[in-house]
Amino acid sequence: MISAVKGMNDLFGKRAVRWGRMEEDIKLLVSNANFTEMRTPMVEEIALFKRGVGETTDVVQKEMYDFLDKKGRHIAMRPEGTASVVRAFIEHGIAMNEPMPFKVFYIGPFFRYERPQKGRYRQFHQLGIEILGDETAQMDAEMIFTAFRVLTHFKIDAEVHINSIGCKECRPAYREKLVEYFASKKEHLCEDCKTRINTNPLRLLDCKICDPKSKYKDIPVMTDHLCGACDDHFKQLQKSLAIFHVPYIIDPFIVRGLDYYTRTAFEVVANTGGSQNAVAGGGRYDNLVADIGGPDTPATGFAMGLERLFDLIPEDFYSESMLSAGYALCDEAVDDLVHFAKHMSHHPIRFFADYKPKKFKKALQKADKTGAAFMFIIGEDEVKEKKILMKNMKTGEQKVYGQHEVMIIVR
Ligand code: HAM
Repeated sequence: MISAVKGMNDLFGKRAVRWGRMEEDIKLLVSNANFTEMRTPMVEEIALFKRGVGETTDVVQKEMYDFLDKKGRHIAMRPEGTASVVRAFIEHGIAMNEPMPFKVFYIGPFFRYERPQKGRYRQFHQLGIEILGDETAQMDAEMIFTAFRVLTHFKIDAEVHINSIGCKECRPAYREKLVEYFASKKEHLCEDCKTRINTNPLRLLDCKICDPKSKYKDIPVMTDHLCGACDDHFKQLQKSLAIFHVPYIIDPFIVRGLDYYTRTAFEVVANTGGSQNAVAGGGRYDNLVADIGGPDTPATGFAMGLERLFDLIPEDFYSESMLSAGYALCDEAVDDLVHFAKHMSHHPIRFFADYKPKKFKKALQKADKTGAAFMFIIGEDEVKEKKILMKNMKTGEQKVYGQHEVMIIVR
């Protein structure tokens, strides 16, 4: 038997209905905040992610789905959306042609070769928003508020963790401090962190393998080493978050797994008592557009894992819309049932017709099995009189109506 590729899921039935409604709600929420959709290809040249996300990140080093195409071009399935949005922003000269800030959202699949487990897949979905052309802390606050707003819409209780990871001015000196601090502790670090000390020392702070942050209590943190401008930005961020009524925790160990961040970094963790996986994460990336070859453009954004969001939505958040089913009891009734199906299609009623004639008892069993709330029956008598029998499956009550009358009743 051929099964789906490991870590990739099929979606159908009730879950697909709920998923679709979740996406509709999200689109409405972000559209109201003036984000417009941007769709970029599922694949990009691998060089984009190497340069954008960072050569030394796990995403690029270990998790990329990549291949050579027929012309030998090195292509990667997108592991995230920010680099693609920035690539498109530069390629289409958006900085010159559109008013700034440029606000976009995307919803779609992303690919990372990770060890599959609950909430972690090899094909997963993200909602992302990106705001290009604005350097203010207030915009960071609005960006974080947007993530928070999505979660509160779905009645999810979540914690926002914020940090500042500085800029080109102040981070190098802090980085040195970190390298110095860990130099004497090398033997207690995991193999990856032994390399990270030289390549990406900030990542030591959130390593889940050797977990230095729970072993050592005096690790130097970036927030104590910010330059004046970054410190002001971080203070303003906190002030604006308070105005947006977003409760937050300052967490100096939020360093993020992607290399492009400057100043604001944040993650949102749901208060479920269970897994501590972040449902959303993001921050500011003021150098990325220039690093990929575009004009100097400050930017900020986040992405939210939709599988993780989906699992957090309370069971009763969406009530199922009522289903109605139509049956013909004889060959002569089939045309009337076709007419009836056509009429029903003009109304916001979930309806399906079964065009194979069957006995009343059989139709009842079928309607019951599909979970129909109302069943419609057309038999010989109904054909003659242009009538239809409607049965309320819950109460058992049944009544004959004119075939055009029922639409008003079930609505
Ligand atoms: P990220 O933290 O790598 O950030 O991913 C964002 C969210 O995607 C995570 O918090 C998680 O919910 C979800 N996610 C990531 N990997 C998986 C996986 N394997 N399975 C299921 N869900 C997953 C970014 O991707 C950045 N591009 C966010 C950003 C946008 N920063 C600025 N703008």
